[in-house]
Amino acid sequence: MPPRDLSGLTVLITGASSGIGAAAARAFIQAGAQVALTARRADRLRALADELGPAAWPAAADLGTPDGPAQAVSAARARFGSIDVLVSNAGFGRRAALAEQTAAEVDEQVRVNLTAAMELTRLVLPEMTARGRGRLIYVASAAGLLGTPTLSVYGAAKAGLRAFAEAVRREAGPHGVGVSILSPGGVAGTEFGTRADPLGEAAVTTPAWLQLSTAQVAQAVVALARQPRREVIIPWPLAGLAGLGRHFPALADWVIGRALARRARG
Ligand SMILES: NC(=O)c1ccc[n+]([C@@H]2O[C@H](COP(=O)([O-])OP(=O)(O)OC[C@H]3O[C@@H](n4cnc5c(N)ncnc54)[C@H](OP(=O)(O)O)[C@@H]3O)[C@@H](O)[C@H]2O)c1
Repeated sequence: MPPRDLSGLTVLITGASSGIGAAAARAFIQAGAQVALTARRADRLRALADELGPAAWPAAADLGTPDGPAQAVSAARARFGSIDVLVSNAGFGRRAALAEQTAAEVDEQVRVNLTAAMELTRLVLPEMTARGRGRLIYVASAAGLLGTPTLSVYGAAKAGLRAFAEAVRREAGPHGVGVSILSPGGVAGTEFGTRADPLGEAAVTTPAWLQLSTAQVAQAVVALARQPRREVIIPWPLAGLAGLGRHFPALADWVIGRALARRARG
């Protein structure tokens, strides 16, 4: 695959019914690609496909179910033939202390954020390695880099996604498949917060200096389709914060503890 040219390539985007996924779909269409759009809300996908024109196709599926990933891949292949780029972006977190989460909520977060990405990859990778080209892009999170109170399960799923992507990169890289992981901080203009914390009760929120727009994240995704990179962490101060947590965990505990205490005091 020529590194910069996306025209005519097929991109399967999960989580395309809102937020980052919808913005990425628009950006890929502008770059000349064709997009298969996956999420549960078929009406949203149809509306976006209508807006984007014949190069976009709705492929609704519930990725939290065992058959969801295969349904999405089949619908994309039925319309466009092969899949050149997988953007594994669907995900959600439940912002709450672990003890306040049900077993079903824990399970669903792991299935949507991690298991679905692994299954989608398992389904599309053989075709990519056989052709000697392809791109796999995984949208992880700051919470997968730095343990975040109230996002333990979500963060664990995203950290698992990073480990998975690293291994797949080493397996598939020699066969011409570029594998990238994108770890954003907080992203404004998405439905993430509404689903994570419907009543606005959580003690922890993303600080303003870690906030991005959906367009910024979408551009980062498209850039990775053009030119894969092992990991992109945005905005850049987040990389420093993640390094702090890795190398000076006691200091990170203190910083996060203070932030929580300040918030609790109001
Ligand atoms: N917003 C942030 O601050 C932030 C920060 C870092 C990373 N991220 C990550 O960015 C990705 C996109 O999130 P977003 O911020 O754009 O939030 P969003 O607006 O809530 O989008 C999440 C997308 O995932 C889809 N999804 C959720 N559950 C699904 C399921 N069971 N099956 C299929 N699709 C499902 C949703 O569609 P349906 O509801 O229609 O199924 C929606 O399209 C997620 O992986 C998230 O973890 C977000």
